[in-house]
Amino acid sequence: MLSKLRNLHRYFYQVPWCVPTWGWKEFCVTMNCILTGHLSKGPYPRRFADAVKDYLGIAYALHTNRGRVAIELALRAIGLDKNHDVILPSYICHSVLDAVVRVGARPVFADVGPDLHLTPETVKTALTAQTRCVIVPHLFGNTAPIDEIETMLEGTGIALIDDAAQSFGSRRAGRLVGTFGDCGIISCGPGKTLAGVAGGLLVTNNREIYERAATISLCQENAIVVMQRVLSFWIWRRLRKYTLPFKIIMDRVFGVKEETPYVACVMSNLDARIALEQFYALGKNTQKRRYNATILLKALGPLANYNISDLSHNSTLVKLVLVLPPKEPTPNQVINLLSNAGIECQKGYVPLHLYMRNVSVFLPFTDNLWDRVVCIPVDIEYKGIKKPLPFTEKRPKFESSQV
Ligand SMILES: Cc1ncc(COP(=O)(O)O)c(C=O)c1O
Repeated sequence: MLSKLRNLHRYFYQVPWCVPTWGWKEFCVTMNCILTGHLSKGPYPRRFADAVKDYLGIAYALHTNRGRVAIELALRAIGLDKNHDVILPSYICHSVLDAVVRVGARPVFADVGPDLHLTPETVKTALTAQTRCVIVPHLFGNTAPIDEIETMLEGTGIALIDDAAQSFGSRRAGRLVGTFGDCGIISCGPGKTLAGVAGGLLVTNNREIYERAATISLCQENAIVVMQRVLSFWIWRRLRKYTLPFKIIMDRVFGVKEETPYVACVMSNLDARIALEQFYALGKNTQKRRYNATILLKALGPLANYNISDLSHNSTLVKLVLVLPPKEPTPNQVINLLSNAGIECQKGYVPLHLYMRNVSVFLPFTDNLWDRVVCIPVDIEYKGIKKPLPFTEKRPKFESSQV
């Protein structure tokens, strides 16, 4: 009983998992949309798309309700069907795969390099005679070597989709991600650089792709759905630091809700207004994250040696990612240690090929690395990490022998 009480503080994290950097502006635009009733339709989706288009220096942008819908539009506009293969990494969230499956194309999983991104070599190994498209996602605010992959695919007739959902604002070889290849994808969902509620963009310089994607009809989201989503976002995510214990109880009582299949819609006015505020604050928020990341890294002590996140000015640094050594410390040890210090962190992705039925493929790096990854949120409550973290004084047990 006493030990349970002692562990209670774990439910009030100093550094909660992926809390969006929302302030008064986001609160005011939410209230404004609710009070004026401009939740679903309005001028803001177009304004947001135009703002991002100008920032990236790209000719066309189409707004959607999710990043995965933007991927689906891109695949359809490229002309993919069941006779085509699409290369994507297995080390990614299922939403990218969902879009591929929705258009009926065959997903082909490629391996990743030591920094968990696709490389020209792994893409080359995965190429088949039917390959028509490669999706290159950038993870955690870092960037994949998309410049090299772009050069490799030049003249092959294989389309390249630059998935900047998690790394909007990061640069590769001096160029903003999202601008490489035939088209780019941006998401403003939770845990992204533009941490809004929902929303996505398809950006391209290719007029043909834009025109074909623009003819695909998308529905308008229901205003009630938009309002419910934003309110639940405020309660369970923005105020996570305070509401986490209630969330845990509710999940135990009612069970965790399964994600329902997505409906392809245009972006809602409210989502676009919040995303636009996030877009205006991108520079300031990135600076704060970089500052927080350096404090966190110092506090991590010897564990900082396992960090693979790019701390340079090229990265928007959404998460600090540790790839631990094969033996100790294990991810669970590290997660426990961090949670005792008030930092809520999580393991990385389970690769898609490991839980999809009828897929047997050997991806040496992915298979070897995936269960050694720990992700630490950087987009955080600043007051929390200004306090010294306990484990800077109380070093982990494994420090001297194994690290
Ligand atoms: C790399 C990547 N691409 C695309 C998506 C899809 O974005 P959304 O959740 O807005 O559909 C995600 C979602 O997490 C993602 O991580």
